Amino acid sequence: MAQTSRIDQWLSRCGYCSRREARSWVRDGRVQVAALRADSVDQRAAAGDVTVDGEALEGPHGLLVLLNKPAGRVCSHQASEGPSIYDLLPERWQRRNPAINSIGRLDQDTTGVLLLTDLGDLIQRWTSPRHKVPKVYEVTVDAPLDESLIPLFASGTLQLPGEDSPCAPARLQILDVHQARLELTEGRFHQVKRMFGVTGRTVTRLHRSRFGEIELGDLEPGKWRLLEVTDLARA
Ligand code: URA
Repeated sequence: MAQTSRIDQWLSRCGYCSRREARSWVRDGRVQVAALRADSVDQRAAAGDVTVDGEALEGPHGLLVLLNKPAGRVCSHQASEGPSIYDLLPERWQRRNPAINSIGRLDQDTTGVLLLTDLGDLIQRWTSPRHKVPKVYEVTVDAPLDESLIPLFASGTLQLPGEDSPCAPARLQILDVHQARLELTEGRFHQVKRMFGVTGRTVTRLHRSRFGEIELGDLEPGKWRLLEVTDLARA
C-alpha cells in the first residue's frame, strides 16, 4: 500500500509552501486528490494521487540531482561563505523539507560531478569511507610530474600532515607533464590538493569527472539533471 500523508505535509516536503500556507492553497482549489478538489489540509493521501495546479507532486519521495559544479561556487547554504551551488537549483527545491544537501563537498575552485539529495540516508551511505565509492579527479599541477608518484600514491602509506592514518591506496595515471588522473576511495578534507602538496606540487586546476559510475555526459557547467535514486545504486 502506498504511504499516505497529510496534504500540508506533502506540500511542505516538496517545497511548494509552508504547512501554514497550505491552508490557502487548498482553500483556493489549487490542490486535488484523485482528481477531486482537496477539502482540507489534514486530508490524507498517497503522493501519486495529489496534484498541485494540475501537476503531479515533484519528487515526493526524495530528489537525487547531478550538478556540473562550476568554479567559484561554494557547497554551503551560508550566504556569508560566497556564491552558493544551491542558487543554481530551482527555487522551490530550496524550500524542500528535509533540505537538499550535497553528497560530500567540492572546494570553491573545483569543478565537475556533484551529487545532491534530500535523502539523508543516501548522504550517509555515499560519504562513508566504508563504502569506498571511487571518485575520479582530473588534476593539473604547477610542477612536472614523475612516475615515482604512482607507487607512492598506490602504497597506502602517504601521510597527510595532521592526519592520524595514511591515505588509502589511490590510483594515479600521469597524462602529461602537468596533468594527471587520480582515483580515490576516500574523501578527506582537500585530499587531492594535500596529496600533491606532500610531493611539493600545487594543484592549479581540479575537476571531478566521476563519482562511482556517474559522469557528466553533455551536462554544461552550472547545469543540473535529475537522476533516479536507483542510479546511485550504480555508484
Ligand atoms: N580534493 C580536493 O583537494 N578538493 C576538492 O574539491 C575535492 C577533492
